[in-house]
Amino acid sequence: MAEILTSKAAMELEDKYGAHNYHPLGVVLSKGKGAKVWDVEGKEYFDFLSAYSAVNQGHCHPKIVGAMVEQAQTLTLTSRAFYSDALGVYEKYITEFFGYDKVLPMNTGAEADETALKLCRRWAYDVKGIENDMAKIIVCADNFHGRTISIISMSTDPESRVGFGPYTPGFIVIPYNDLDALKVALKDPNVAGFLVEPIQGEAGVVVPDEGYLKTAFDMCKANNVLFIADEVQTGIARTGKMLACDHEGVHPDILILGKALSGGAYPVSAVLANDEIMLTIKPGQHGSTFGGNPVAARIATAALQVVKDENLEERAENLGNIFRAKMRSIDSDMVELVRGKGLLNAVVIRPKNGKTAMDVCIKMAENGVLAKPTHDHIIRFAPPLVISEEELAEAMNIIEQSILSFD
Ligand SMILES: Cc1ncc(COP(=O)(O)O)c(C=O)c1O
Repeated sequence: MAEILTSKAAMELEDKYGAHNYHPLGVVLSKGKGAKVWDVEGKEYFDFLSAYSAVNQGHCHPKIVGAMVEQAQTLTLTSRAFYSDALGVYEKYITEFFGYDKVLPMNTGAEADETALKLCRRWAYDVKGIENDMAKIIVCADNFHGRTISIISMSTDPESRVGFGPYTPGFIVIPYNDLDALKVALKDPNVAGFLVEPIQGEAGVVVPDEGYLKTAFDMCKANNVLFIADEVQTGIARTGKMLACDHEGVHPDILILGKALSGGAYPVSAVLANDEIMLTIKPGQHGSTFGGNPVAARIATAALQVVKDENLEERAENLGNIFRAKMRSIDSDMVELVRGKGLLNAVVIRPKNGKTAMDVCIKMAENGVLAKPTHDHIIRFAPPLVISEEELAEAMNIIEQSILSFD
C-alpha cells in the first residue's frame, strides 16, 4: 500500500530526489476522472492541460483502462524478436484508420519524430537519389518536436538547445507560416523533407494562415519533397478534426502521432507512411524494445475507438467555439489575444501591475482550474475533449473570475 503523502511532502521528495528538469505548478495530483483531477488533499480541479493534450479521451477512460488491464494480465512484452497476437491487429486498425500502407510503432513523441527523420533520410538516398549524407530537412523556427540531441539540433529555442552541442547537421530552419521562405528553401536539390506542426503547440498555439498547409504540401509535391506532419499534440481530434491537417484536406507523406494515441494511459507513438517510404527501413536499422508491445497495441486501438464512438472531433469543434467566444468576451485588458482551433487554445496575457501569465495560472489553480503558461505570457487551454458543456461553463467562469481578480 502506497504511503499517503501531504502535498508539501510529495513536492519535497521530488525536489530532493528528482532531477530539476521541470518547474511544475505547486499542485500534487493523485486522482483523475474525465475532465477532472484531484490533489492529495482531495481538492478538485478542471484539468485544462490534459498532459499537453495526451488525455483527450479524459482521465482513466474505462474502455482504455479496461483494454490495458486485460492485456497486462495476459502478456505485456515480447520485444519485436517475436510476433504477438496483438500487434498485427493494431497495425491493421491504425493504418486503415488513417489511410496509410504501414505503421512503425514507437513509444514517445520524440522517438516518433526521430523515426520520421530517419525514414526521410533513407527515402532521400534510396528513392529520391540524393548523394549519401547530403540530405537536408526543412524545419520551422519555434518548432517543438521533443528533447533528443537531433531534435534540439533543429530547435530555435535557446533554453532547449544552448549548452547541449555539438548538434546534428542537415536541417534548414525557415520561419513558420512563411511560404516564400519555403519556396526558397525548396530550391536546394538536397532537400528531402519538410517537417511541420500544423499548429505550433509549445510555441503558444500558433495557428498558421488558412491555406498554409495545403500550399506547403503542394509545393513539396512539386519538388519531390516529403511533407512530414508532427501531429503529436494536434492529432487525435484535439483541433476539431481527427488530424489538424484534415482542416485543409492534406494527407501527409509521413504522419507522426503520440500523446492521445493512448489517451494518456501509456507512452504510445506511431509513424505512418506508405510502402515507398516505410519499406526503405530494413530489419535491424531501427526499432525499440517496447515499441508496438501488446499492451500499447491494445490501448491505442481502444483509444482511437473511443474518439470515434464519442464523437470527440465534433465535441472539440463545438466546445472550442464556445470557449474562444467566452474568452474574447472577458472584460479585462489582461486578455490581449485569444487564438486556437477546436479545444487547443491560448490566451495571450498582457502583464498588469507586475502580474504575469504565471500569476493568473496560480490564481486559477487556487480557484480550481489547472493550466500552465507556455513562454512567459501565453496560457494554453486544452481540456480533455470529453468535458461536458456544463463543466466547460463552470471552468470558464473560474477562468474569467481569476483574470478579473487582477483588475
Ligand atoms: C508537436 C510535438 N512533437 C513532439 C513532442 C514530444 O513528445 P514526447 O514528450 O512524448 O517525447 C511534443 C511534446 O510536447 C509535441 O508537442
